[in-house]
Amino acid sequence: MGGVQDRDANAAVRRFRAPVVDMNSCPEPVGCVQHGLLQHAGILVCPRCGGHLEFSLDILECKCCGSEYPSDSGIPRLFFPHDVLYGPRDVTHKVKDFYDENPFPQYEDSDSADSLRERSLASPLARLLDNQLPASALILDAGCGTGHLANFLGMREERQVIGADLSLNSLREAKRFKDRWAVHNAGFLQMNLFRPPFRKAVFDVVIANSVLHHTSDPLGAFSLLAALLKPDGLFVLSLFNPLGRAGNNMRRLLYRLSKDRLAFLRWRSEKQRGRFIQRYKQPYESRHFLGEIAQEWFAANEFEFLYSSPRIGSQQLSGGEDLRYARWPGDRGMQLRTELGMMLRGIVNDGLFVMIGRNKVKPEQIEAGERSQAAVA
Ligand SMILES: C[S@@+](CC[C@H](N)C(=O)[O-])C[C@H]1O[C@@H](n2cnc3c(N)ncnc32)[C@H](O)[C@@H]1O
Repeated sequence: MGGVQDRDANAAVRRFRAPVVDMNSCPEPVGCVQHGLLQHAGILVCPRCGGHLEFSLDILECKCCGSEYPSDSGIPRLFFPHDVLYGPRDVTHKVKDFYDENPFPQYEDSDSADSLRERSLASPLARLLDNQLPASALILDAGCGTGHLANFLGMREERQVIGADLSLNSLREAKRFKDRWAVHNAGFLQMNLFRPPFRKAVFDVVIANSVLHHTSDPLGAFSLLAALLKPDGLFVLSLFNPLGRAGNNMRRLLYRLSKDRLAFLRWRSEKQRGRFIQRYKQPYESRHFLGEIAQEWFAANEFEFLYSSPRIGSQQLSGGEDLRYARWPGDRGMQLRTELGMMLRGIVNDGLFVMIGRNKVKPEQIEAGERSQAAVA
């Protein structure tokens, strides 16, 4: 990074540096994921320069560039801004402010480990991941929000799940739940997914559930996260589809034109507030076609297509399938029929689709740094 950019970056770090709240000594039980993140930093690197991090006086410190990363409520704050690279086009600040004000998804006061497990198992995606991910997988939930999925997946014995998000308020809720219900196999840290504070090729699974479409450069973010996967690792992502999202956008326009006088149609109780704001008040979202991900994004990053929900064409997918086998993502006609089906269902739902791909980059390519350079350029 050159002189002016360096100064900008330093200013940005200062802007994001918050007071250290606790951490006189590591309060986390030895052996749990949060303890590992706080003290050993084995898979962590400096989000600014990629240098080696060391734990000293309750702060993670980069031995290369000297940056310091304190913790808040036991959550390492490894956020580094990237607006110096993307300029005014960048939406990170807007999105960060939005989710700090409206952490998502919400927990209910009556929530417990059992109720979260029960609710998660009702979702085909969470069920599929819980059943199909390797028992001892190291998983990154990038943009984990308040950590419902990370806490649910972290309830399994040998698994290790790291939930990472830019919204500190969301992470505080995630960690509060984890601490209260002793979910030792989930840990949380603050990051910007354009500056992931992890070594390359360390995760078995990376999840970005309803996240990348809230960034200025979804494909760039996908490529950066893809580089964190081991060979044969799985990328699970969900995104909005332009046709599937049409119904939601019409309603959004209606609420805006009525200055929210019609909001009562969907927001009748405090419980519905979070979902309403999430669906209709987002500061920024992009939308993506099935083929764009299954063919373009996956090809650019050397992934093979495994799964999509809704299913494309005549595949008979149920949520219980085996993620070991690659599938054909269908031709444009089949994809369009699936998207038209989403448009019809978009009258009631929010137009998200899920896609899972497998990293086909070979270990030698990762060592030579080939994929990350090709994809991120
Ligand atoms: C719609 S919420 C999804 C939360 C969670 N994945 C879920 O499905 O319940 C989107 C999340 O992405 C996070 N996010 C957006 N841009 C990000 C970025 N650049 N780095 C890290 N997290 C980001 C937001 O803070 C927010 O918590």
